[in-house]
Amino acid sequence: MDYDVKDIGLAKEGANKIEWAGEDMLVLEGIRNDFSRTKPFKGRAVGACLHVTSETANLMVALKSGGADVFLCASNPLSTQDDVAASLVKDYGISVFAIKGEDSETYYKHINSVLDNKPQVSMDDGADLISTVHSSRKELIGKIIGGTEETTTGVVRLKIMEKKGVLQYPIIAVNEAKTKHFFDNRYGTGQSTIDGIMRATNTLLSGKKFVVIGYGWCGKGVAMRARGMGASVIVLEVDPFKAIEAKMDGFDVMHATEAARIGDIFLSVTGNLNVIGEDILKQCKDNAIVANSGHFDAEIDLNYLKKNCKSVKKVRPFVEQYEMKDGKRVNVLAEGRLVNLGAAEGHPASVMDMSFANQALSAKYIFENSKKLEKKVYTVPEEIDKKIAELKLKSMGITIDKLTPEQEEYLNSWEMGT
Ligand code: ADE
Repeated sequence: MDYDVKDIGLAKEGANKIEWAGEDMLVLEGIRNDFSRTKPFKGRAVGACLHVTSETANLMVALKSGGADVFLCASNPLSTQDDVAASLVKDYGISVFAIKGEDSETYYKHINSVLDNKPQVSMDDGADLISTVHSSRKELIGKIIGGTEETTTGVVRLKIMEKKGVLQYPIIAVNEAKTKHFFDNRYGTGQSTIDGIMRATNTLLSGKKFVVIGYGWCGKGVAMRARGMGASVIVLEVDPFKAIEAKMDGFDVMHATEAARIGDIFLSVTGNLNVIGEDILKQCKDNAIVANSGHFDAEIDLNYLKKNCKSVKKVRPFVEQYEMKDGKRVNVLAEGRLVNLGAAEGHPASVMDMSFANQALSAKYIFENSKKLEKKVYTVPEEIDKKIAELKLKSMGITIDKLTPEQEEYLNSWEMGT
């Protein structure tokens, strides 16, 4: 079996982590049991480019239980858990190509290793697999029947590809499912981002001014959790609706130049370029902390820092301190990559349970419906999303009410008034 991991000897620790995460992924466990019986992927190959974590491992195992040949590479050079990668290879017979801290060349070599195995379905978090197929591995177009995409940034890229008429196969946008973005993006990113910042710095959040840039689902989650830790939260937004929402949720909202002078910690979650840019980096206080939880490492203007610093030193694991020409220090976490996966372990299993249930059932849906799917970006079918919500509630031991026939009828009528 072909693979490339850091050290296969780490497998035992990885196996423990995979099992630990599995205990909190009961929806996925139910799906895995179904897959084991029905083998929906028998003889099929799935290529996945996801963060190689213990939660992802449980998804890979579910696909393999359903009969798939599974090939996995990382969707970020810094997010791989090397022990998990080793266990997937040694204990589960899954081909993994991922090493934490790999350079860009190795990262793309690993993506190509997955593609060399000719997957029929691609599974992405950030669309790097799909964009490689569409740019340098065009011979695979026609062989891949569909793909899934996990994250907001990836879905944005894919919708642009669809709009420009270059998308060559159907995609299910897992991020669009309610059971994904309402929970993973908000509660997952909220908790894991704070976790990453705390593990990297051990800084006290209480009493700090914590600047959240971007008030989408992820930004909402981070702002909420930073407030919970006692920080005064400032939100920066470019969208007037989201800016009002942040204000009415009780956060300070202001212009970047104003926040720059008073912030202690700056966290970007926008999916855009250089949002922690010169305006903030030039004006921020000595010893400010800057971090990113957006998918790509483009959100902090590292070029500005590199060009305008006297020196850079690693002051703790995952903390690089830039000393600027005027003597001011700026601390960059996790090289500007996703701090929640670079410096911590990503979202907890219980929330990834729903995200990856969507991935698993969407992959099955693609194999079952490939003939009728067009070269478009689709949302997860409503019935799959709803089934996952019901299963999650069940796994939490919660039952909810049903509409009475009278209420159903009332909602379907228009005659009744005051
Ligand atoms: N994205 C965010 N958290 C994650 C996790 N724990 N595993 C895989 N992908 C993730």
